[in-house]
Amino acid sequence: MLVNSPRIIVTRRLPAAVERELVEKYSASLNADDHQFTRAELSSAMRDADIVLCTLTDDLSRPTFDAARGGRVKLLANFGVGFNHIDLDAARKQGIAVTNTPGVLTEDTADFTMLLILAVARRAGEGERELRSGKWSGWRPTHLLGTRVSGKTLGIIGFGRIGQAVAARAHHGFGMRVIYHSRTPADSATEQKTGARKSESLEALLRQSDFVSLHCPSTPETHHLINAARLRLMQPHAYLVNTSRGDVVDEQALVAALDEKLIAGAALDVYETEPAINPRLVQREDVVLLPHLGSATMESRVAMGQRTLLNIVAFVAKNALPDRIA
Ligand code: DGY
Repeated sequence: MLVNSPRIIVTRRLPAAVERELVEKYSASLNADDHQFTRAELSSAMRDADIVLCTLTDDLSRPTFDAARGGRVKLLANFGVGFNHIDLDAARKQGIAVTNTPGVLTEDTADFTMLLILAVARRAGEGERELRSGKWSGWRPTHLLGTRVSGKTLGIIGFGRIGQAVAARAHHGFGMRVIYHSRTPADSATEQKTGARKSESLEALLRQSDFVSLHCPSTPETHHLINAARLRLMQPHAYLVNTSRGDVVDEQALVAALDEKLIAGAALDVYETEPAINPRLVQREDVVLLPHLGSATMESRVAMGQRTLLNIVAFVAKNALPDRIA
């Protein structure tokens, strides 16, 4: 640790190599038991430390900032790309910089999206549950028949880095027709590379897709973007896949749509009130439910840590922050 190095409070356990670097270079306090920080702990960290290395389980909404007012913190270095848990406006008002970790988890999250598409279409969860419960009676021609993925139409909502990486995999790897919806059209080189075409509207995408995959951030505009009316536009054989943020989908409306068989199923990695899961989802066989694992490879998580460190190094050197979002 350097003399006069900034005090850093880290809110969750990080891969060992990242924690080592933090304690070797800075006066860093780690979260040894990996508990989720309460609001009170977060505001106390913001009062006591120069930098809080936070992540998506931290409630950095306005009340946390209010309780930390006048504190020491000058940087919230977020471990993760999504920042809907941070009130950026409150941060700006208190002169606190905020950074995130874009770009480094794209490929793993895109791979994981394909895993969800395949798992829900080919009933992998149901099959595994049946086998583990000792109920598998052997191969038979009509056992757990799923839906073919290759050659089908994939609708991607949100065409940033991850949406584009999913499109390329689906189109070039699985021969899928890929359409996307986004506020800004991609340039022709990106469309060429990913094999994706812009849909004329969100509604047209929902009507035409066999699989709909969400890759937009959680913002006030995307809150419950997939609601009862939009679920009704999807085809009865179509599947909904969400690796973005839980609140982009109205979960009550999703359960109702599944009950009414308006869609065939869903594969979710993110939830409206995670880690609490709607019990009506847990009971269903037509959904694949995973615990927010999109970027959970050692490679991605170390890269996210390194990217966070890059921003901390720049902050300490008083240089421009590479991934500044506020
Ligand atoms: C992020 O970085 O925001 C992801 O949700 C973590 O997987």
